[in-house]
Amino acid sequence: MKKIGVIGAGTMGTGIAHVSALSGFDVTLVDIEQNLLEHSLTSIKKGLKRQVDKGKISQEEMNTALGRIQTITEMKSLSSEDIVIEAATENKEVKISIFSELDTFCPEKTILASNTSSISISLIASATNRPEKVIGMHFMNPVSIMKLVEIITHADTDQSLIKPMADFLGNVLGKGVVYAKDTPNFVANRIGVFGMMATLEEAYKRNLSIEDVDALTGTIIGRPKSATFRTADVVGLDTLSFVAKTAYDNCLDDEEREGFKLPDYITKMLENNWLGQKTGQGFYKKIEKGVIHSIDLKTMEYKPQSKSRYTSVRIARENVDSAKKFAALVNGKDIAGEFIWAVTSRALLYSANRLPEIADDIVNIDNAMKWGFAWSKGPFEMWDDLGLLATIERMKSDGRKIPEWVEKMAETGFTKFYDYIRSIIWTRHSWSCCSKSFRQRNNKSDKTHYE
Ligand code: NAI
Repeated sequence: MKKIGVIGAGTMGTGIAHVSALSGFDVTLVDIEQNLLEHSLTSIKKGLKRQVDKGKISQEEMNTALGRIQTITEMKSLSSEDIVIEAATENKEVKISIFSELDTFCPEKTILASNTSSISISLIASATNRPEKVIGMHFMNPVSIMKLVEIITHADTDQSLIKPMADFLGNVLGKGVVYAKDTPNFVANRIGVFGMMATLEEAYKRNLSIEDVDALTGTIIGRPKSATFRTADVVGLDTLSFVAKTAYDNCLDDEEREGFKLPDYITKMLENNWLGQKTGQGFYKKIEKGVIHSIDLKTMEYKPQSKSRYTSVRIARENVDSAKKFAALVNGKDIAGEFIWAVTSRALLYSANRLPEIADDIVNIDNAMKWGFAWSKGPFEMWDDLGLLATIERMKSDGRKIPEWVEKMAETGFTKFYDYIRSIIWTRHSWSCCSKSFRQRNNKSDKTHYE
């Protein structure tokens, strides 16, 4: 592949054009107005300059990458692209019209990909006469930083496309590929946003403050420092709500569907335009330089932050090993320990219940969360750290239902989702919920997962 077309020069199209040009592709960037394209080129230049300043690329590489990008406002001027990646406005009608038009003039060999976050790939594919050549290619924001790209296939996808697409994304663009099924929000956002919504719900029930939740759900449990609420402010409450609503509206059989319902305080914050960083206030509000207040979810008033001290946190911090630290916190007997156990156990069960609905195996889910949400470990790796049998027992005593495949796995004597198994050398294998056996991972020719 040499030539890439990118439709839409907004946040995502700009990022995709940036990484593709830097990886040596000729990129044609398309938008409806020239000023949008110029704005996009300015952002790409700034991004490349930052990479030069950090010593990641040379000035010459920056100039070469910029020279590879051309911009057009007439989609029909795309000629012999090997792949066209659509990153236009998230609107069904817009996407359908773009794909049906692309299909009329793109050569037969051209693969058509959509970066949609929420629209069914098979619906988009059905707007063309080449549904087998239409796939989802879901990059994360910011594209140049986030490792994850989900490849979404649908019933008509030409299976021979999958490996070259994974090689293009993984080996050439340097991304981490996760194979997702064509289900609402795909893998990372389905699990990640459920985790955030469950955290909000469990925190509200316990009257925990915004700053306490962030202290408990950040680095101490192997998540980014921005934890829950600061992440929500960065992402934007509008975006977070959109993803939650997509799941609520479309995942009718999801056992945790009610968990995606927006709480009243979020609805109120949306009405007030308190969307987070982009509107100057969200769960946090900067009062003056160095003074940031947090919102009280019961009164909807901002107040000075005051962090609580928890015994379980003190005990957890005595451990240097991250797995032991996490286990100590989850087993803590105070409100912090109970809260972390509640959000963790719900996230673990939710992930297990999504197999094989959203992906074929645990590796794809773990990778999606590590590469897309910057968790240090995926849910099944975390579950191994906590110990399967003890957690199952505690989940049952909480009245939670254990997914059948997990219970069967434990009953047959397998108590880990990952294990090292010796054939010629010791290699890491993962438990397959479908074949009910351990499978070797790290096999690039295996299209079910990719390292
Ligand atoms: P955006 O609003 O920043 O940019 C969309 C661009 O598409 C605009 O410049 C608009 O003028 C252009 N556009 C609209 N109709 C067009 C057409 N017919 N032909 C050419 N260009 C057209 O949107 P953003 O955030 O870049 O999102 C793009 C896609 O990526 C959406 O499908 C979104 O769901 C998805 N996505 C967004 C992420 C994010 O964090 N922003 C993350 C992952 C996926």
